[in-house]
Amino acid sequence: MKLERKFLAVEETGTAYRRKGMRRMLFALLPENAYDRLRGGRVRFEASPWGRRWSLFVAAWLSAIARSGVLSGLHYALFSREFDREHRAVLAARGRHIRDVFAGRGNLYMLRRNVHRLEKGLIMKPPRPIFGLGKIGETVTAYRACLGQLGRGDEDLRTSLEWAKDILNTYFDRVADHPVVAEARARFEAADADHHVPTSADRAPFLRALEPSLPTIEQIESLAAHRRSVRWFDGRPVPRGVIDRAVEIAAQSPTACNRQPFRFEFFDSPELVQKVGAVPKGTPGWLHQIPCFMVIIGKFDAFRFERDRHVPYIDGCLSAMALINALEVQGVSSCCVNFPDFADTEQRMAEVLGLAPWERAIMCLAIGYPEDGERVPFSQKLPLSMMRRYNHGE
Ligand SMILES: Cc1cc2nc3c(=O)[nH]c(=O)nc-3n(C[C@H](O)[C@H](O)[C@H](O)COP(=O)(O)O)c2cc1C
Repeated sequence: MKLERKFLAVEETGTAYRRKGMRRMLFALLPENAYDRLRGGRVRFEASPWGRRWSLFVAAWLSAIARSGVLSGLHYALFSREFDREHRAVLAARGRHIRDVFAGRGNLYMLRRNVHRLEKGLIMKPPRPIFGLGKIGETVTAYRACLGQLGRGDEDLRTSLEWAKDILNTYFDRVADHPVVAEARARFEAADADHHVPTSADRAPFLRALEPSLPTIEQIESLAAHRRSVRWFDGRPVPRGVIDRAVEIAAQSPTACNRQPFRFEFFDSPELVQKVGAVPKGTPGWLHQIPCFMVIIGKFDAFRFERDRHVPYIDGCLSAMALINALEVQGVSSCCVNFPDFADTEQRMAEVLGLAPWERAIMCLAIGYPEDGERVPFSQKLPLSMMRRYNHGE
């Protein structure tokens, strides 16, 4: 009976996913507090002379194998499976990316990257009479394949295709004659005759406003100083209009080659907030009063090569900062919630959100109106002298 109650409590709070296998058994079998005492044993061991020696041995071992790619590879093959999840996501993503491209299904991220490279070519100084020969054929092939998806009803593609069409039109108008260009132009025009995509000259490289109406540096300083991680909310639901406006601002953030390899998943139904918010390990004690929860999902199938595997994290979080600020100026506060790379949390998040093998949760965000009169931690920031360095080594 005691066991059953304990397991049930674990299931209900979602902590079942935090304690697996041996740990879960021990937690269920041991008397109250004994589990915590056992866990405290590790801390006591590390503080003992033997524990100190062991930790220094581990440190020496890690520093030694870190000098060799082969040894560190062996270490992670034999002694630790911690990188397995990233390996598998990156491999699944590369497989999907390459399959999309070579089976003619079209990979939207690849299209966006190539079109962006053409855009950069269009503003190059001094202007080049001819450029993009190595990429234009591939870009038109991707455009045609993505148009095929549009024909099958994938409307999310439309804005990217409109932009691609405008840039390709500008490119073909601008570049000098060349057989490679002529062949690509013919295929582009044939594709467009089949599926009409509306164009707009606004999507070509443009002049930014000369006298933009921007916030002052004092206003930016005041926003930065005011924004703090807020964990206690007043219970009011956050209107979706407020969130959507912030997301549209976040969408303006820079991303590597404009691929935009992520999406934000929001939850504002109380049951779902509790379900999803229990998955990462950073919310115990304050989850029950979070009105809205967001998860950033990185889309690793945007990339063909391993070298880009960090980009979804970087792009997703640059955009998240803009989102956080856009919420804050609308009176809505937030707190980032870590998504640690544990097998159980990842599996649980994949189940709850129905993630594809090439998608990974990157970070979460608790969102709500701040409770009146509630303090926030001071969280000392780095001084300027520690934060930046100029011309080191000059
Ligand atoms: C990637 C990331 C993960 C975080 N994870 C958590 C978390 O799991 N739980 C929590 O209470 N705060 C979390 N925080 C909030 C940090 O504790 C907080 O940003 C930091 O102390 C600085 O305070 P400030 O945001 O008020 O300036 C996280 C912040 C970041 C950027």
